[in-house]
Amino acid sequence: MRRSLVAANWKMHGSLTHIQDFVTDFSAVDNVDVVIFPPVVYLQAMASSLPMSIYCGVQDIGTSASGPHTGEVAAEMVFEVGGAWAIVGHSERRIDQSEMDDLVATKAAAAVRGGLHPIICVGESLAEREAGHEIAVVEGQLEAVLDRLDVAQLARGAIAYEPVWAIGTGRTASPQQAQEMHAFIRDKVAHVDEVVASQMRILYGGSVSPDNAAALFAEEDIDGGLVGGASLDAGEFSAIIAIAGVAATAD
Ligand code: 13P
Repeated sequence: MRRSLVAANWKMHGSLTHIQDFVTDFSAVDNVDVVIFPPVVYLQAMASSLPMSIYCGVQDIGTSASGPHTGEVAAEMVFEVGGAWAIVGHSERRIDQSEMDDLVATKAAAAVRGGLHPIICVGESLAEREAGHEIAVVEGQLEAVLDRLDVAQLARGAIAYEPVWAIGTGRTASPQQAQEMHAFIRDKVAHVDEVVASQMRILYGGSVSPDNAAALFAEEDIDGGLVGGASLDAGEFSAIIAIAGVAATAD
């Protein structure tokens, strides 16, 4: 059985004061893995303020271990200061920084090389869904990763399905829409390695809140969430973790 994983993507939000307030009100449960992704400058402050059982990570990663790459941060450096996870391929980076599938796959491999667990984001835009291309889009994003990353490494990390039209919009994919895509992703990985596919966690992201988390996490192939806006509030984020814990016991 897969352990639930709930992750907080703070994006470009937060401050040292916010972290102090957050850790005071935050609580987790034993049967759910939790990772928090603050802006990279706050990684150490966050990691040292939380119990050891709560992991921290970065929202993006450079591709090299070191070198003349101004502004980049290596996975090895993140690992050294207590980071354990890295998000790669978030749609905001694919859109804002024009990151393409190949670069995302290279970043996933770089995260693994540096000792981090990658969360690889995939997801279609509204126009792509309306054109009925959502499966083809996600398939292309996945294939780029499967071509470049040893599939066994996927079991170490997670895939996050984040439909772009559901991010920060308050518009969530229905549990059925999300389950359909998660099942497709698992099946696609199963064609390469069935064991990895059965162990690999697939998270849903896009306007997850305490109101919709139970219905989403009840789905067979939804193993947790990558939470944006609601993760900035310790009470709301803790509530989502508790819901994941209950869903895991109901399995
Ligand atoms: P929201 O939960 O704010 O929609 O953000 C989702 C997301 O992008 C998480 O990575």
